[in-house]
Amino acid sequence: ESYDMGGHDTYMHKEISEQPEAVDRVLRGRIDDRFSTVHLGGLNLDAREARGIRRVKILGCGTSYHAGLIGAGLIESLARIPADAEPASEFRYRNPVVDPDTLYIAVSQSGETYDVLAAVQELKRKGARVLGVVNVVGSAIAREADGGTYVHAGPEVCVVSTKCFTNTVVAFALLALHLGRIRDLSVSEGKRIIAGLRRLPAQITEILESEADIKKLAEEYAGAQSMMFIGRVRGYPVALEASLKLKEISYIHAEAYPASELKHGPLALIEPALPTVAIVPDDDLLEKNRAALEEIKARSGRILAVAHREQEKADHTIVVPKNENELDPILMGIPLQLFAYHTALAMGRDIDKPRNLAKSVTVE
Ligand code: AGP
Repeated sequence: ESYDMGGHDTYMHKEISEQPEAVDRVLRGRIDDRFSTVHLGGLNLDAREARGIRRVKILGCGTSYHAGLIGAGLIESLARIPADAEPASEFRYRNPVVDPDTLYIAVSQSGETYDVLAAVQELKRKGARVLGVVNVVGSAIAREADGGTYVHAGPEVCVVSTKCFTNTVVAFALLALHLGRIRDLSVSEGKRIIAGLRRLPAQITEILESEADIKKLAEEYAGAQSMMFIGRVRGYPVALEASLKLKEISYIHAEAYPASELKHGPLALIEPALPTVAIVPDDDLLEKNRAALEEIKARSGRILAVAHREQEKADHTIVVPKNENELDPILMGIPLQLFAYHTALAMGRDIDKPRNLAKSVTVE
């Protein structure tokens, strides 16, 4: 990929549009169909070491932290290793207990984010093993880590991250599958996930083809002062990332909550002027998510759902193609990148260079 805009008006639009090829690239050459597993060359982690991991702690900032939250969910469900993600900036200031049986993973698009780099250096000082999930080849975090994997999203110029987020989550799916197959994940489960991964590029293309409809919706919601984003479990990091994207480029205030937490406070905010974007996958939590939509509707809240089929309680639904439950978050975030983009465009914002932000934050 070159740095020219290739016919797009903004880098953000170009980068959103490049996602089918970008995902294809992160998968390419890594899938081993014979054993229903994946090979990630640079991990520097043999099977015995992988079996000895007791916990996984993922560190990143902003969008990379959100990708890490989805990554932690993938590692827990596919490799059955307790995993969580934390903002790198918080982690290094709380004098964390550094445990030799924990695998630490630093996530960064630029590979230069100071808070992440400093967390990696602190961990290494304390003898931890740190892997990098990084986009920019040869960057500081990639060099400092003991091993890791590149996410191969290609150059990302727009200050807000889109294709790199998607590719990072796919890279985590590969890592989770790799760890799972070394541990307890069966051959048939491995096959199921591999088939799901292979469907992603075409499904992303399908989502991108509905851009005109998403644009109309964005123009309708662009007048809002504030928006709420909700999701449960796998859907919650999708809500967090979609709300960050909207804030960054449209300057509309947005907050993300687990749908299950609504009744513990934010329900008080619901009224017609505060639209809610709800992530509603067709999975074991569908009925729970629908109950949340009912709560919002009962308070006359407007709802835009991102779902696998029309949601009766929602005012509008963006229907996305279904994949395996574990991989659904990858697809559900993509229409909301376009939603943020078209909202900001309708408001006349400087999309590639939002105010007060820099592409890589190399200072504390
Ligand atoms: C992404 O849209 C943001 N601009 C920002 O949150 C970014 O993800 C964060 O600063 C981390 O950057 P990195 O991935 O290059 O480390």
